[in-house]
Amino acid sequence: MSQQNDKIPDVLKDNILMESSDISTLKDEINNPDIGIEIKGIDYSKNESIDMKASDLVKAMKTMGFQASNLGKACEVIDKMRSWRGENYHDLSESDRKGSFEILEDGSYGKQRTTVFLGYTSNLISSGVRETLVELAKNKQVDCFVSSAGGIEEDIIKCLAPTYLGDFELKGAMLREKGLNRIGNMVIPNDNYCKFEDWIVPILDTMLEEQEAFVAKAGLNCNDAEYDMNLPPWTPSKFIRRLGKEINDESSLLYQCYKNNIPVYCPGLTDGSIGDMLFFHTFKSSPKQLRIDIVSDIRAINTMAMESTRAGMMILGGGLIKHHINNACLMRNGADFAVYINTGQEFDGSDAGARIDEAVSWGKIKDEALKVKIYSDVTLVFPLIVAATFKNGKNLEYWC
Ligand SMILES: NC(=O)c1ccc[n+]([C@@H]2O[C@H](COP(=O)([O-])OP(=O)(O)OC[C@H]3O[C@@H](n4cnc5c(N)ncnc54)[C@H](O)[C@@H]3O)[C@@H](O)[C@H]2O)c1
Repeated sequence: MSQQNDKIPDVLKDNILMESSDISTLKDEINNPDIGIEIKGIDYSKNESIDMKASDLVKAMKTMGFQASNLGKACEVIDKMRSWRGENYHDLSESDRKGSFEILEDGSYGKQRTTVFLGYTSNLISSGVRETLVELAKNKQVDCFVSSAGGIEEDIIKCLAPTYLGDFELKGAMLREKGLNRIGNMVIPNDNYCKFEDWIVPILDTMLEEQEAFVAKAGLNCNDAEYDMNLPPWTPSKFIRRLGKEINDESSLLYQCYKNNIPVYCPGLTDGSIGDMLFFHTFKSSPKQLRIDIVSDIRAINTMAMESTRAGMMILGGGLIKHHINNACLMRNGADFAVYINTGQEFDGSDAGARIDEAVSWGKIKDEALKVKIYSDVTLVFPLIVAATFKNGKNLEYWC
């Protein structure tokens, strides 16, 4: 303490000029290895700070604080998640050959790897985040997607007609008169949904015929679970797989998932335009009706989580898609890696806003998991995260 401070009354010394403990002691308070890193921004005097690569930018942002630090941490968690390797498939007993494995050049199984679950809200497919998700599916970097209904139909609709940039300020009544619909600052013409109806109705007709033929053949056993992804009884994920197959368009997430055998789960399949189509179809097909079984799908996603040797989640947005992946991971006593990106707040007790620690309390994410929540619009940060991780062009350094 300076000499000047010697003259200050003891009460001020005790309350205001008290000495600090070492920052490293905070590591005993909370499990966060980053505590104590010096806060620093980008040094623009350096050549490498000009026109920075995504991976360098994100690394530099890690020491900035606030959500920039969470962004940097999310990239580290994702790199750890995708570079974890376990036992070799051939060294495991038959009963332990479960979960996800590397696929070697000759098509055989290599080492165990993390099973990656990715959830996204519908608006993200309406937005250009769709193309980033397509790239991940194309390269089999995700093992399972979970979507809400809009995230299924909007993917198909975008193959039939475009979505446009509009403005958050465009008035609802004016747009209604013009037959235009607004999602944030994007606009979708009503005609797109008419095209979707024309496209999907013949598929619903065919799926109904296939269902009826299956019922006639299977008789009383027609309600038994049938896990062949191409056969009735239909489930939301089988239905979605069929849409992916039928759209046969490289730009479609559902098509890439069909092609690469990646399941897309959507327990709320009817809460969107698909629900309208299924509703209208009941009048056309009455008294017959398409049946969609949600029990087989919950069994499938929960089994996938239970069998995964390590489980990782990337959850873009909140609501149903967030909880569905978390709940599946409860079946294995919690995920090992978790990245949440959403704008939700926890003060209202919503699941959408719940922080990761709340999921730890339920056993949906492990306490020792590598985990972080970024408070942000997904469109701002997810393309940056993917550029800095999955698409950074570097070879993975594996760890066990
Ligand atoms: N294009 C569409 O958005 C669309 C189309 C048809 C139907 N619907 C239906 O609307 C219902 C609600 O949609 P939903 O469940 O997909 O999610 P939602 O739009 O209700 O969002 C749920 C939560 O996710 C978070 N979130 C959403 N967008 C985000 C973003 N860009 N960045 C960060 N966080 C974000 C917010 O916390 C939000 O409260 C669903 O049943 C869906 O099928 C949506």
